[in-house]
Amino acid sequence: MTAFDVADAPALVAAVADPDIRRWLPLPRPYPVELAEHWATVGIESTRVSGTGLVRCIRVDGALAGCIDVKRVDWRARTAELGYWLAPGFRGQGLATAAVRTLSSWLLGVHSFERVELRVATGNAASARVASRAGFVHEGVARNAGFTDDGRVDLAVWSRVPGDRSD
Ligand SMILES: CC(C)(COP(=O)(O)OP(=O)(O)OC[C@H]1O[C@@H](n2cnc3c(N)ncnc32)[C@H](O)[C@@H]1OP(=O)(O)O)[C@@H](O)C(=O)NCCC(=O)NCCS
Repeated sequence: MTAFDVADAPALVAAVADPDIRRWLPLPRPYPVELAEHWATVGIESTRVSGTGLVRCIRVDGALAGCIDVKRVDWRARTAELGYWLAPGFRGQGLATAAVRTLSSWLLGVHSFERVELRVATGNAASARVASRAGFVHEGVARNAGFTDDGRVDLAVWSRVPGDRSD
């Protein structure tokens, strides 16, 4: 995982046009390259500086393969949520699972977080597999808690806490 760069903008625009990413993540529409350039530089950096989140690029041989971010950071409660996507050509290799495990271990270990959460739309089977393989525990379903471009969705809540760690 590395930082995003302004040069990633064209690959970012191409990736987020993918129907599976569009189906599950309510990203801006349209998503012009100027927006990607701004997000990859100013947007991500202001999130990091304010302490409200962290966005990292998942790379394979230098190419943008996907994205993982820390959001809903509560420094007092020491809780946070992760979100992620992979460009279509980089799926099926365990990259999202590895990134989720690594980033959640870093939060729980290095930063003494008490809980890392994933909230996955109940129909999103691939993302539920990522949560399970990364060592998260399924807690239940938050009804009508999220939205996609197609409307409201129930969100399965998964968590990883310090006692779940074996790494
Ligand atoms: C979620 C995502 C990152 C998973 O990437 P990945 O782990 O490389 O995905 P894979 O294609 O390997 O699928 C993971 C698992 O789900 C299964 N799966 C994939 N699509 C599926 C489907 N439609 N129905 C049932 N199972 C499915 C795969 O068989 C695999 O299972 P396995 O580990 O037993 O082989 C990727 O699918 C993605 O970017 N999706 C769009 C954005 C998104 O949904 N982000 C998460 C929001 S919470």
